[in-house]
Amino acid sequence: MQAFRRQGRRFGAGLVCSEMVSCAGIQHGNERTLGYLRIARDEHPLAVQIFGSDPAVMAEAARTVEDAGADLVDINFGCPVRKVTKTGAGATLLEEPERAARIVEAVANAVSVPVTVKMRRGLENGSRACLTLGPRLVEAGAACLTLHPRSARQMYTGEADHSLTRELVERVDVPVIASGDVTSRSHARTVLASTGSAAVMVGRAAQGNPWALREIVDAEPGEPSREEVVAELVLFIRETERELGERRAAGFLKKFYGWYLGRGRFPRPFKQELVTLETTAEVERRLLAAAPGAASLLERLEGELTTVEDVLLDLPISIYGGG
Ligand SMILES: Cc1cc2nc3c(=O)[nH]c(=O)nc-3n(C[C@H](O)[C@H](O)[C@H](O)COP(=O)(O)O)c2cc1C
Repeated sequence: MQAFRRQGRRFGAGLVCSEMVSCAGIQHGNERTLGYLRIARDEHPLAVQIFGSDPAVMAEAARTVEDAGADLVDINFGCPVRKVTKTGAGATLLEEPERAARIVEAVANAVSVPVTVKMRRGLENGSRACLTLGPRLVEAGAACLTLHPRSARQMYTGEADHSLTRELVERVDVPVIASGDVTSRSHARTVLASTGSAAVMVGRAAQGNPWALREIVDAEPGEPSREEVVAELVLFIRETERELGERRAAGFLKKFYGWYLGRGRFPRPFKQELVTLETTAEVERRLLAAAPGAASLLERLEGELTTVEDVLLDLPISIYGGG
């Protein structure tokens, strides 16, 4: 999501990545898919991630992604969700090295920006498929590998086994990014030191808590004031509405209220009440009433953001309505 990526950049992320974008969707000019290719000036450097199973279709989609302004094209060989794997895309490709290598080669030949790959460890628990696949993908043209060392079967259970990340680092001569369970500066340092990886990727820990990024990057103490929390959440609500349209945004945002307002920042009944409200306008009113000082912070944040008109892509205007 653009809202999440722009926030991540403001809080110190060195590189942000899009959600996975369907190559078939790009091929068919699907409006919602093309909407994922909106890139704001303040997002760079930005990777756009694609998924698919056909090398030629993926190469063509990668060209569109490059034209859209992506600084990197990342390929998804990790998504464990059945809707994706049953089409031969995502994590299935971990066990189809021939096809996976052909995809990377076709995409790398199609674009001039670096092509990177995101992997899980393999399909089944205990799999070490990533360790043989990784070097093949580098040979095929991957400029960097990100490893989330859980199996597809594990989904998000258990722990990321970063001893595999260390083994992968030893086997390839491109940068490896470690993804999985990085939540704090001390943990990030442990993962970097124990794996030799070039960077860490932060996912869930930053959801509703961009201050975690600031703590990881700058060692700034993580806990924000209530006013800061409310200002960031209201900004996030507004940005998400602009991106998804009001109706889709209202449902999508509900889980974020708990993520932002949890961690002892606000009482539980307040969070529960927000989830029951019908419109995001009401949610905003309640939030700003609960932390009146947030309004001026919010105004400042909005003033600092690049205006929307500045950052739209050269794509058909109809896709910008969200909805
Ligand atoms: C809601 C959600 C959506 C995700 N979407 C993607 C995706 O589109 N592409 C991808 O490569 N990984 C995706 N991931 C996996 C993350 O990139 C990351 O590898 C994983 O969450 C482990 O890192 P974490 O413990 O920091 O969250 C997603 C994870 C979550 C929780």
